[in-house]
Amino acid sequence: NKTPIIILNYKTYTESTGKNAVKLSQYVQEASDETGINMAIAPQAVDLYPIIESVDIPVYAQHMDAITPGGHTGSALPEALYETGIEGSLINHSEKRLTLADIDVVVEKTRQLDLTSVLCTNNVKTSAACASFNPDFIAIEPPELIGTGIPVSQASPEVVENTVEEIHKINKNISVLCGAGISTGEDMKAALDLGAQGVLLASGIIKAENQKEALIDLVSLI
Ligand code: G3P
Repeated sequence: NKTPIIILNYKTYTESTGKNAVKLSQYVQEASDETGINMAIAPQAVDLYPIIESVDIPVYAQHMDAITPGGHTGSALPEALYETGIEGSLINHSEKRLTLADIDVVVEKTRQLDLTSVLCTNNVKTSAACASFNPDFIAIEPPELIGTGIPVSQASPEVVENTVEEIHKINKNISVLCGAGISTGEDMKAALDLGAQGVLLASGIIKAENQKEALIDLVSLI
């Protein structure tokens, strides 16, 4: 299990759905192989299985519900996601928030299933609170910058720095990622310079004219 330093969240963009999702995953695999940089992907649940069949990079779910097998129509059962062959999951993304109690259940479930947990947070205070759950990663993403193309590493450097500091006061083993508006090599380098161990990103790569080139540019300065 390689530690990823780039996680590409496919969200529900047309460019990263269905056949496009499989194609994009192959580009991410190629970019990772060519650059030697660890890259993981988080496609929609419905696309997980065909993607896991066609690439070797770590594939994560975008969300898991805090449920057990039984009567939960329309929900994302952790055990079902696990069976697709995922290696981890995003948890509590700003576009799919959970209650504190449900975060606890889902992080615990990923531990039981030996999956990597990437717990998303929106500010320094929630990051510090979430550190007590001891996930593998915390990904700080100020919601107001998500999808804007304005990089968090440049617009709010103090949020990234303070998040790293507060989390590591509680648990030094948690790796911190940052996200929102990241798309270029400069953005990525700035994130690492602030103490993050990688980035969680989406639109800057998914909406790029050449997705593979955009990924290679992203890691060009590290
Ligand atoms: O999970 C990644 C994300 O929310 C950031 O989105 O489009 O600003 O890279 P984006």
